[in-house]
Amino acid sequence: MDTGFFIKYYRYFFNGTMMTLAISFLGVIFGSLVGVILSLMKLSNNKLARAFSSAYIEIIRGTPLLVQIYLIYYGLPMILPMDLGRMTLGTIAVLLNSAAYIAEIIRAGIQSIDKGQSEASRSLGMSKSMTMRYVIIPQAVKNILPALGNEFITLVKESAVLSVIGIHDLMYNADTLRGITYRPFIPLIYAAIIYFIITFILSKLLRIFERRLEASDKS
Ligand code: ARG
Repeated sequence: MDTGFFIKYYRYFFNGTMMTLAISFLGVIFGSLVGVILSLMKLSNNKLARAFSSAYIEIIRGTPLLVQIYLIYYGLPMILPMDLGRMTLGTIAVLLNSAAYIAEIIRAGIQSIDKGQSEASRSLGMSKSMTMRYVIIPQAVKNILPALGNEFITLVKESAVLSVIGIHDLMYNADTLRGITYRPFIPLIYAAIIYFIITFILSKLLRIFERRLEASDKS
């Protein structure tokens, strides 16, 4: 393998990797904020809130991320008077997409807690919101956190699609190198290796974290 190539152009890979990580990170963080709201709406007693969040989740998960990125990139500037810049628009597209997946992660996490837990808590005189706060959520978090880690790993890979709107992520920079060096293959191999190293390390770390959570359950 042409390591000289990598050494010569490592800046492209490095900067691209930073951009990929930054957007994925912002994607899960803000996606989680929106996701929490969507999941609460979905679990609420309000029909309208439930319908809205169900529709949102279905539509986002039922259409390609690529289409959503284009719609946000060209659509948002039409309705918003200010210039957001591609980095912000790209992040918004990713976070809005991720929020739908995260909403389902949170809903599933909450619903996975045995009904007996809330029945016991309610029969002890705790209110609905106290039950949620002190009984359900602390247990649900153990299911939710590892799944959010997985979502981050997914975004590291899926965010490669953002290169179509000119965000200088790892994929975009690899493509740029293909253009300026006339080497169509090598930059892609390096990009693939970097993506793999990131996701491999992250999933190992996540596994360790998950084991710790499991262990803390038993103590
Ligand atoms: N590639 C798929 C799509 O284009 C999946 C997107 C996954 N997104 C996520 N946040 N988990 O729709």
